[in-house]
Amino acid sequence: MSKRESVWLAGIDTPVRQSLDGDYRTDVVVIGGGVAGMTTALLLQQDGLDVVLLESERIGHGSTGKSTGKVSSLHGLLYQKLIERHGRERAFGYGEANQQAIDVVESMVEKMTQDCNFARVPAYVYTRDVDMVDDLRAEHEAAVTLSLPAHLTTDTDLPFDVELALRFDNQARIDVGPYMMGLAELFEAAGGTIFENSRAVDLDESLAGVTVTTEAGSVSADSAVVATLIPVFDRGGYFARMKPSRAYGVAARLASGGLEAVHINAGSPTRSTRPWEGSQGTGIVIVGEGHPTGDGTASPGRWAELERWGREHFDVASFEYRWSAQDYTSVDELPYIGRSPLSNRVYVATGFRKWGLSNGTVAGQILSDLLVGRDNPWHDTFDATRLGDLESIKPMAEITVSVGKHFIGDRLARLTSPSVEKLECGDGMIVRSDGDAIAAYRDSEGTIHGVSATCTHLGCTVQWNGAEKSWDCPCHGSRFGIDGCVLAGPATDPLGVVEVQD
Ligand SMILES: Cc1cc2nc3c(=O)[nH]c(=O)nc-3n(C[C@H](O)[C@H](O)[C@H](O)COP(=O)(O)OP(=O)(O)OC[C@H]3O[C@@H](n4cnc5c(N)ncnc54)[C@H](O)[C@@H]3O)c2cc1C
Ligand code: FES
Repeated sequence: MSKRESVWLAGIDTPVRQSLDGDYRTDVVVIGGGVAGMTTALLLQQDGLDVVLLESERIGHGSTGKSTGKVSSLHGLLYQKLIERHGRERAFGYGEANQQAIDVVESMVEKMTQDCNFARVPAYVYTRDVDMVDDLRAEHEAAVTLSLPAHLTTDTDLPFDVELALRFDNQARIDVGPYMMGLAELFEAAGGTIFENSRAVDLDESLAGVTVTTEAGSVSADSAVVATLIPVFDRGGYFARMKPSRAYGVAARLASGGLEAVHINAGSPTRSTRPWEGSQGTGIVIVGEGHPTGDGTASPGRWAELERWGREHFDVASFEYRWSAQDYTSVDELPYIGRSPLSNRVYVATGFRKWGLSNGTVAGQILSDLLVGRDNPWHDTFDATRLGDLESIKPMAEITVSVGKHFIGDRLARLTSPSVEKLECGDGMIVRSDGDAIAAYRDSEGTIHGVSATCTHLGCTVQWNGAEKSWDCPCHGSRFGIDGCVLAGPATDPLGVVEVQD
């Protein structure tokens, strides 16, 4: 049985950093130690500002440490859509920013003592479906007009034939765990301060500055950067303009064969692949099986499906690791990076559409430029104060309708929830207890762990995630542990613990 952790975080042995205890004063407080927050913090500290970074768990253990580790400007089939929707100039800005982010990551790696296995490789998006060939040709044409390093080919290093592939040259892959540790070490060496296991629970903004509070202390600063995947302190209503979705990863050791480049198929189900240089020889990572967060389809079967596909196409000796993570896609497909609306001092970086290693690096550059008063060529492309184009209205309305459906429909469903006797060991479900609906999990010893089924963000009903054994909110993606603790925002408050009579 494979281990339930990200291949990139397994075996990483870094001392746990201190947690915030007491009141601090600094120039900038960064909330969130993923690629966006950590890169922003490092660049600001290198610019001579004094930066404190607050991380609710460990550096790099959010979506960043559970990604596929591709650093690339090839983001599936995107550029044709971006040109049609946002115009050539904006699409060019997106492509250019993500392309140069590869160089930025490489230059960071050169300064690190951590071995990140950074390698320059081609990136492919391919299809085995003859009906998608025209889509790839159109994407190639769009990418070429944006000066991206794009080529059409049928020659890949995959162990099967493809109808057509679009190749971007000189892209990169990296082991994200060591990379995040390396960024943190560079930040501390430059004089920055990290507090781990320090969840920000409040952000207060006044004319004089900002104060971010945790359970054990506070950090006052001139400005705050909220880089928590989705902003936990949301002055821009981003939660109503982005869709959360989860995806699954497995790492396999191969008996023979292997990969060199990184790949993703066009169409669905998604299969994203790359090599993994494990300690016991050659391996691969396969990522896919994406679905909306909290839709009730999260189960170990997702990993089984990736493993089945892996065995079908590769000479797999064993599957070593399995994990899952989530990310957000904005209604107009572009990330939001910059100053938050209705605020002079709060900055955000979010909506990376599962391509945040490059976009999060871009976020670090844009936000550090903004905060020190430098021009940035991509600021307008990612402008976090934009409301969106006309085309955004439909997906925004869809999100609102879906949230409304969950808010009302799931509440009605609570009335007919089964009673707790139906709950089997190792399973979780919304049950009726004393006339109320409770999110209940029965552990392997039969003990029931009950928490409120009402999400503390805006009141939707949480759903069971059978893969991660968590309670996930279908409305905006908050996630909670079986004891009710917050695993991921936008919620900041835990679900209340409830006694359940068996
Ligand atoms: C399965 C999968 C594979 C992917 N593969 C790739 C890939 O190959 N290439 C690519 O470019 N992108 C990829 N992505 C997307 C990429 O992982 C994300 O876009 C990126 O990691 C987001 O970085 P982040 O810093 O915004 O968020 P995170 O890495 O999630 O960091 C946010 C941090 O904020 C912390 N936090 C949250 N709330 C609080 C709080 N209240 N107080 C303090 N801290 C808090 C969290 O603990 C977390 O550490 C993938 C995504 C998924 C889901
Ligand atoms: S995440 Fe918004 S209501 Fe649950």
